Amino acid sequence: MTTQSPITLQEINQDFSLVHTASLSPDAEQAIGFFSGKKVPLEMHRVTTVKRLYLKDVDSRAACIEQAGNNTFLLDNRDVFLDMLTDSGVNSMSIFQQAAMQTADDSYAGSATYYRLKNALNYIFGTEYFLPAHQGRACENIICTSFVTPGSYVITNYHFTTTKAHIMNNGGEVIEVVPETSLDPAHLTDFKGDMDLDLLASETERVGKENLAFVRVEAGTNLIGGQPVSLANMRAVSKFCRERGILTVFDASLLADNLYFIKTREPEAKTKTVREIALEIAPLFDIIYFSARKLGCARGGGIVSNNLELIETMKPLVPLNEGFLTYGGMSVREMEAIAIGLIESCDFHVISQTALFVEAGLDLLESKGVPSVRPAGGLGCHVDAMKFLDHVPLEQYRAGALAVAAYIVGGIRGMERGTLSEERNADGTDHLSKMELLRLAMPRRAFTLSQLEYVADRLGWLYENRHLVGGLRFVEEPKQMRFFFGRLEAIDDWPTKLVAAFKKDMPSQL
Ligand code: F0G
Repeated sequence: MTTQSPITLQEINQDFSLVHTASLSPDAEQAIGFFSGKKVPLEMHRVTTVKRLYLKDVDSRAACIEQAGNNTFLLDNRDVFLDMLTDSGVNSMSIFQQAAMQTADDSYAGSATYYRLKNALNYIFGTEYFLPAHQGRACENIICTSFVTPGSYVITNYHFTTTKAHIMNNGGEVIEVVPETSLDPAHLTDFKGDMDLDLLASETERVGKENLAFVRVEAGTNLIGGQPVSLANMRAVSKFCRERGILTVFDASLLADNLYFIKTREPEAKTKTVREIALEIAPLFDIIYFSARKLGCARGGGIVSNNLELIETMKPLVPLNEGFLTYGGMSVREMEAIAIGLIESCDFHVISQTALFVEAGLDLLESKGVPSVRPAGGLGCHVDAMKFLDHVPLEQYRAGALAVAAYIVGGIRGMERGTLSEERNADGTDHLSKMELLRLAMPRRAFTLSQLEYVADRLGWLYENRHLVGGLRFVEEPKQMRFFFGRLEAIDDWPTKLVAAFKKDMPSQL
């Protein structure tokens, strides 16, 4: 992308008179410590609207998860105490986001809301062109339909489920180039989402650069535990691709967490503001897309670029599949909320909240011996089910079984991220994932420290009783995206034994 001069704070304020710009002041970009030295993820917000939670007893929970086909996606949320399935579309919104929703312009074409969102994207990315879409995977559909051809390849740091499905649907193949050590939950390094540059070069050489649809960098690498990518690595990947004329695509869905980690872990970024870092990242890529269910803390998505030719290639797919070019299938109210959410994502004390709570949660889990992905990433706490349930055969879905057990013992809804989330091999065997993770998502500004203590308490008990947990097998298995709506059964009725042990150890507890 060519560098454009980004919009100023004064200019954006003409659009958003509601934005509380004081919080964007760069001198406030520092975590607040305790005199006692205790590590506490201090909330830099006040709760204004809350949602009542309910906890069903352990017998009811065992019945609910069985009815849900032992798949946490199929649980009714009213049967869940702590919904840690995802941060997607469930981050808490600010009062300014909620107020802005009332200002939305409902016109089908040329809505003022579209231009406000476009300007907010310019504020964070310095980009000129914006194609709206209803969510992140819709952007992936547009990008992959436009650029992935049968027999082509996409090199990426690590795939995301929907991204891989869209690449494969268009006849492409995914090549992952994070180093092997990034898939080791215990390996400690600051930027596990970084591409291995030697691997990038050798894989490009192997498949031929002309056969590469694009190189994709995913911020806050989701499936390996919300692990960040460094600014230095993005720069090097961009240089490599630009020198060879390879198209670069940036998935910015988890950018907010990634910006926090760059700011706090990468020495050269310490003196830069969050916004300055974002504005430095954006020109490194030809196309940027995002799920605004994550970035922007509302519900929607979009593609931005400074390259008109690329935008023109993708543009026809927006009115065809999403909606007219000025709303792309999103509600205009959500678009207003996204715009404010993007500007607020330049506020250190907004984006620090997930990372600080993830770290606090992992420290609590670790104190109970529960193995997890380290160092703390973004998105959520990732429990290492590979280790936790090392007695369960890999074909019986360790992380899936742990997700079932966590719901039974605590009403905690997490998400399986392992073999179950993979598609089967062509010969029908399971594609065994290198990582088996139970993700306990930490939507921004949604949970409290005492709720995390509860999670650690119940998972700590489960860890001590882990031998009671067995495996799962499919009883209904969809061909694609089986993790979303496949149904499984517990092998040898282990949930009954788990419930009995829970009631024996905690007779007075739900
Ligand atoms: N890219 C990344 C890195 C994601 O994490 C997601 C969604 C998408 C793309 C797709 O965006 O959901 O708006 O269509 N991740 C959610 C999750 C589903 O729970 O991690 P979407």
